[in-house]
Amino acid sequence: MSILPRSVVIKGTGSYTPDTVKTNDDLAKIVDTSDEWIFTRTGIKERRIAADGEQASDMGAKAATQALSNAGLNPEDVDLVIVATITPDMPFPSTACLIQTKLGITNAVCMDIEAACSGFLYIMEVAASLIQSGRYQNALIVGTEKLSSILDWEDRTTCVLFGDGAGAAVLCPSDVPGTGLLDFKLGADGANGEVLYMPGGGSANPATGASIDRRLHFLKMRGREVFKLAVKVMEKAAKEILEQNGLNSDQLACVIPHQANLRIIELLSSRLEIPMDRFYLNLEKYGNTSAASIPIALDEAFRDERIKSGDLILLVAFGAGLTWGAALVRCP
Ligand code: COA
Repeated sequence: MSILPRSVVIKGTGSYTPDTVKTNDDLAKIVDTSDEWIFTRTGIKERRIAADGEQASDMGAKAATQALSNAGLNPEDVDLVIVATITPDMPFPSTACLIQTKLGITNAVCMDIEAACSGFLYIMEVAASLIQSGRYQNALIVGTEKLSSILDWEDRTTCVLFGDGAGAAVLCPSDVPGTGLLDFKLGADGANGEVLYMPGGGSANPATGASIDRRLHFLKMRGREVFKLAVKVMEKAAKEILEQNGLNSDQLACVIPHQANLRIIELLSSRLEIPMDRFYLNLEKYGNTSAASIPIALDEAFRDERIKSGDLILLVAFGAGLTWGAALVRCP
């Protein structure tokens, strides 16, 4: 079944979410919304918010430290660090370089890759391919987001959906065929970029007094359009990856979807004919943490023992870009 020449396994995972909890009732004090509206439309009850001065690299470093410890590796064993984030500490240096320094990793290639909420699946495929090439051995991959720093806290249509956090995994080669990361199916459609984007802060709209007055440095979204596209592309990626591996959905022990909206996941469940009890959910606690969503859920699913040795699991995500992706994993 595996199309990959050298098996690559998830050797360890870790996650970190900040201590501060913002509930739907807390949000109702700052924008015109209610717990009832948010929960029925999204399934979200609360989200975590990073402290002032707590950056994406700080959260990523905490998740990464846990992942390395679970993998039984030391910082000097890591030769590749890839970070997925849309909220880097700063445009450069990369958040991967910042995390490298925080962890004392001295002998690694470090880079960020940006594919928004699909970012973790993108970095997983890139890291797996580089390990398969034989040029790298132990990759640390991290999804980390401080989305609270780009939310418009006066826009009730977006600020209620997102939260902060980080998740990480350590990928290593394995001699056991047919185990670990079996296959990926990634995709992108730049033509739909403006349904979800942040116009300010790059070379198109650098920071000026006018860009700030026009609120260009905040996330903008056309929610209804994103909703429909999300269901469509995740269904497509999931069906394609199952088909190209000769599998049917009954063989999946667990699906870990991007945690954006419970209604999106319910529709995906019905279109894939996979019952909801096989979907791992934690969005009620964290909201949408973008690139951190899949690795936080993966780490919690391992710790909750929702995933066991030998299980076949499907990871599936969508995000700004548009980007999307699916990955099939056989747990070692
Ligand atoms: N509280 C109360 N009312 C709100 C609100 C809020 N937080 N946000 C929007 N509304 C209002 C709207 O203004 C609108 O009012 P109107 O009918 O008077 O114009 C009404 O609720 C319905 O808005 P609508 O946008 O049609 O709601 P919806 O059912 O589509 O739900 C989302 C909105 C954002 C929850 C939903 O579209 C969604 O989840 N989209 C996908 C977003 C996503 O996952 N983004 C991340 C991608 S990685």
